[in-house]
Amino acid sequence: MSALQKYVDEVVKDFTISKEKLNECVDYFVEQTREGLRANDVKSLPMIPTFVTDVPNGKEKGTFLAVDLGGTNFRVCSVNLLGNSDFTITQEKWAVPRTIMRGSSADFYKFMADHIGKFLTKHHSDKLEGPKIKMGFTFSFPVVQTSLNRGKLLRWTKGFNIPDAVGTDICECLQKELDKQNLPVHVAALVNDTVGTLMARSYGKSGNAHTLIGCIFGTGTNGAYREKISNIPKFDAAAHPEITSDMMVINTEWGSFDNALKHIPANRFDVDLNERTPNPGFHMFEKRVSGMFLGELLRLVILEMYKKNLLSAIKSVPEDAKLFQDWSADSAITAAIDGDSTSNYATTGYMLRDAFGLLATPEEREAIHRVARAIGDRSAALAAVPIAGLILHTKAFERVDTIDIGGDGSVVEFYPEFEKRVRDALRKTALGSKEANISFGISKDGSGVGAALCALVAEDPEDA
Ligand code: GLC
Repeated sequence: MSALQKYVDEVVKDFTISKEKLNECVDYFVEQTREGLRANDVKSLPMIPTFVTDVPNGKEKGTFLAVDLGGTNFRVCSVNLLGNSDFTITQEKWAVPRTIMRGSSADFYKFMADHIGKFLTKHHSDKLEGPKIKMGFTFSFPVVQTSLNRGKLLRWTKGFNIPDAVGTDICECLQKELDKQNLPVHVAALVNDTVGTLMARSYGKSGNAHTLIGCIFGTGTNGAYREKISNIPKFDAAAHPEITSDMMVINTEWGSFDNALKHIPANRFDVDLNERTPNPGFHMFEKRVSGMFLGELLRLVILEMYKKNLLSAIKSVPEDAKLFQDWSADSAITAAIDGDSTSNYATTGYMLRDAFGLLATPEEREAIHRVARAIGDRSAALAAVPIAGLILHTKAFERVDTIDIGGDGSVVEFYPEFEKRVRDALRKTALGSKEANISFGISKDGSGVGAALCALVAEDPEDA
């Protein structure tokens, strides 16, 4: 066996999750779910009550604004809910410049309000003088909410870092900037993208009362689900007489599962990657699962191969090659190499050349394909952990035959066979053959429709 094959065997082992490990993680997730609902602790699962107490049934109607900030783009849309599970949408999006992602909060809010103003001027100039329009704000970061449209930012994730915004009320600050710019907009609801996904899936699947989870596997990963208020000891229901429902959607922020690394795996590549993120020690689960990290993990392995002189056929790599640049590898590269079924791994060869400046032999391409596959398999196996964990925690299968899940994000949409691989892992958990009774659908546009649905249930600005 060549030194390269031996090395790859070991790396693949480092990324492999055994059935025992998987179940150990699921059990710990269930325990952490309960713990997070009981009390807030800085390193535990946030389990944030969202003040969303009802999921839609598809009959909702009306026009609302929705804005979405959570990754590389800022999107503004107006959503017209038609009341028959359908909707129309007008939208525009802009890239969020790095100077805004890592700048001051004043510039951050101004950036958003400026673009909301541009959108209204272009598409709804008739509304610029009228009463305030209700807007749902999809803000896909952990916010500890005190009402539907009030809440303080806990921390930044996914590469954002605007230090003076941490601990402040995101909706209030955006509202102030909108008022300053005289824009007739009321920030009615703050919506995590997973909550929006859950809402949008419930709206689109009218009549199906069992959509339990909304989840994102994209740049980051997270999930929201329906919980009985009586199961949320840390939520002071008596302080909120306005809430008459007995259920509430919880934003788990499962990206932060097991930040203490008691059970989730941590190999040397994970350790290295974590140290170079703006939030070291936090969102440790996310750093093994979501799109922002799958490219970087592969780059780190290839870099180590290169440094160990295992890639003998690789011609000298220029010093400025992307191989040597942190975060230069997109997860689409890992996805393409993982899913490569061309002869002699030709696709892998092109990807390595274009993405990293490497010229690799067929043997080396196969080796790197195996690494990408192991990274993808681990991501999907870990993705099964919170899904199984929430289904077991809620004991949903004791009440219904079929559980529905709405999902969104680049990984679940485009990573090769992601859903199939998650299902393979789900069958290895205590759910076993019940996996077949889980329906899953991509719920496009949670951040538009879902946010509009949250704005709909929000109080009118006059009463707020
Ligand atoms: C990160 C954020 C979370 C969001 C997820 C998916 O984990 O903290 O709020 O839902 O990314 O976008």
